This record gives sequence, structure tokens and C-alpha cells, in this order.
Amino acid sequence: MPSKTAQKTNRMPEKGLPQDTIIRELEAKLHPDLTYSSGKILCSMCTNPHSFAKQIYRKYLEKNLGDPSLFPASAELEQETISMLGSLLSNPKACGSIVSGGTEANIIALWAARNLAKRERGEVVVPVSAHYSFDKASDLLNLKLIKVKLNSSYQMDVKAAEKAITSKTVAIVGLAGSTGLGVVDPIRELSEIASAHNIYLHVDAAFGGFVLPFLKELGYKPLDFDFSLPNVCSITIDPHKMGLAPIPAGGILFRDAKMCEAVSMKVPYLTGGEMKQSTLLGTRSGASAVAVWALLKHLGRAGYAAVVERCLGLTWKLVEGIQRIDGLDIVTEPTMNVVGVKSDTVDVSLIFRELRKRGWAVSLFPDYLRIVIMPHTKPLHIKLFLEDLQKILENLRS
Ligand SMILES: Cc1ncc(COP(=O)(O)O)c(C=O)c1O
Repeated sequence: MPSKTAQKTNRMPEKGLPQDTIIRELEAKLHPDLTYSSGKILCSMCTNPHSFAKQIYRKYLEKNLGDPSLFPASAELEQETISMLGSLLSNPKACGSIVSGGTEANIIALWAARNLAKRERGEVVVPVSAHYSFDKASDLLNLKLIKVKLNSSYQMDVKAAEKAITSKTVAIVGLAGSTGLGVVDPIRELSEIASAHNIYLHVDAAFGGFVLPFLKELGYKPLDFDFSLPNVCSITIDPHKMGLAPIPAGGILFRDAKMCEAVSMKVPYLTGGEMKQSTLLGTRSGASAVAVWALLKHLGRAGYAAVVERCLGLTWKLVEGIQRIDGLDIVTEPTMNVVGVKSDTVDVSLIFRELRKRGWAVSLFPDYLRIVIMPHTKPLHIKLFLEDLQKILENLRS
């Protein structure tokens, strides 16, 4: 319904404008946007994409994975990308798609689980910390989310999860990196429960997928979360988060082709005759998949491990700095490059507002602030941020 309040209208110009005029106008109009290079963005799970990935993306912009008969080589590269991501997640035989992001990946996972279960009015057991994409998925797929509480470590409470299972349950979801605190749920135990009840288990590693595989070699505590656990059926892993790929690039990986088939649709009119699609989108970016393919090859495991090592090192510097500020503390010890900051003395929403006035963007959760240390964050940014935080706390307490 059109809004009654006066809305600024825009018309396409009758006669086209010169490109440099438009570029100048765009520069001015887009100026208020924050930039990753300023170091002020401390809340996003995305980052400035790697320069090589940007170069490849620009070069292959015309590729459309929605029509694989026109772009069979791009479709082949997409499958090679999925296999490389699968090998990172202990299953090079995984099948799936490069999609628009974690939201689409999570929707596709629940779509597959629902279709495989063949149950009317199904239910999905998720932790209360699950990303809101699962709410979207439940609405779209007519599934009821059963949200279970967390334990004292902010992980899904496994006993509560098992209790929540009924004859209507079509899937359990575990998080390998929660949106708020980067916490990893006890996926091994969830996998055992899934096996005992013969239920589909989806792991949302949208953020953690490019972090957790490197923890062991970097000397941090390794955590089980991937296809090495026998009952993990699908995993979301987003190249456009810690994978340094240009947006849009999410990933949905299934353990085997049968699961992927559960969401396959025949598309009768495309040039190759009858083709199948197993994504929500029809026309979709081939450049995204090709850029991820190129970046995985270029950085390799060692390159990604170095990115994670740097981010985790800075995360711990931030944690130490926060703990030195009177009135502030961390919510829980970080598993990844995500930190929750709480205060017993000051309302965190006031801190949030004061930070924003000084140009810093952090995320505001009900009881804490979330800071994500991404590859665009430099040691100087952490230093300046901590100095501002200290001053803000002093002012708010006085
Ligand atoms: C754990 C998790 N899953 C899914 C998503 C959704 O990803 P996207 O914004 O790419 O759709 C996010 C976004 O931050 C997330 O943190």
C-alpha cells in the first residue's frame, strides 16, 4: 500500500547525462556510507574483498549460473568450488551451490530437510541464538521453529534440544559460530541426537566455516563441527564473510547428492533443454562463484590460515584492552574473532550511541555490544577504538 507521507520521487532523466557528471553525483551521494578502509566498521561479518577476487569478479560479470547450458564451464567451476569448500569441511564429495549468502543457504537447507522428511507442518529445533534467517525460512516453508535455551557457555543446551524433538521434527540446527558471540554449539552431541532420532542436522557455519578449520594448526582449541561428524547433513559457509569474496557469495553444501536433489526443480525452457536448479534464485551471479574459485586457489589453506591468525591475534588484543577498562568486561571468552562486551555499571546502548557519534560502528544486542574483528581491522584501529571506549566510559560514569 502506498505510504501517505510525502515521499521524494525520482524520475529517470529524459536525456541521458554524461558519465563523469553521474560519477561526481554518486561520489557525493554515497559519501555518508562507512568504509572498511577507515577501520571504523567493527560490526560487520563482511569485509573489503580481496583485490584478486575483485579483479576476477569484474572480468566475469556476464556469467549467469541460472543458465548452465550457456555457461557450462562456469557451472563446472562452481562445482569445483563446492568440492574445494567441501574438502575444507572434511567432505570433498559434498555437493551444493554458491548462493547469495547465509540467508539463502539456510533457507535451502531447511527446504531440503522439509522435503526429505515429507512431513506436514514440520518443526525445526534451533538454539535461541540462531540467525533470523531461520525465522524467514520457517515463515516461507511453513515450518515451526522450536527455539531452545542456551547453556552457561552460550551454546545450545543439548538436553533441551533433545527434549524439544517430537514426531514433527524435520531438522535440528546447530551453529558453528553464533551471530552474536561466535559461539560453536556442541555439534558432536547434536549429531548423536540426530542419529538416534533419525533427524536431519544442519550446521550454520556461515561465519565459522572459514575460521574453525584453521584453529588447530594455529594452536587454538579445535572444535568439531563439519562433515567429519557422520550425521551432519548440510553446512552453510559464506565466502563473502571470512572467505574475503565479493558480495554475493554464500555457500550451501550437502553431504550427498540425494539431499541436494530434494530441492532440485526442473526448468523446462532453458537452452540446454530440461535443466535442474537447486537454488532459490534463477538468474544468479557466475562471477561470484568464479571469484571464490580463484581466491581459494590463490590463498590456499596457508593464506586463509594467515588471515585467521591475524584476526584472532587482534581479537585477543582487543579483549585485553577491554578488560583493562573500568566498568567493561567480555561476555564470554571468544572462540573466534567475535567479541561480546558488557557492562555492570553503564547501559550498553549509551556506549553504543557515544561510539557512533565518534564514527565507530559496533552492533547492539539486548545485553551487550558485539565487535567483529575482520581482515580490514588494523592494530591502530584497535588502539584508537580502545582509547575512545575508555573516554566514553569515563564520561558516562562521571
Ligand atoms: C551465523 C549466521 N548465519 C547466517 C547469516 C546470514 O548471512 P547473510 O547476511 O549473508 O544472508 C549470518 C549473518 O551474519 C550469520 O551470522
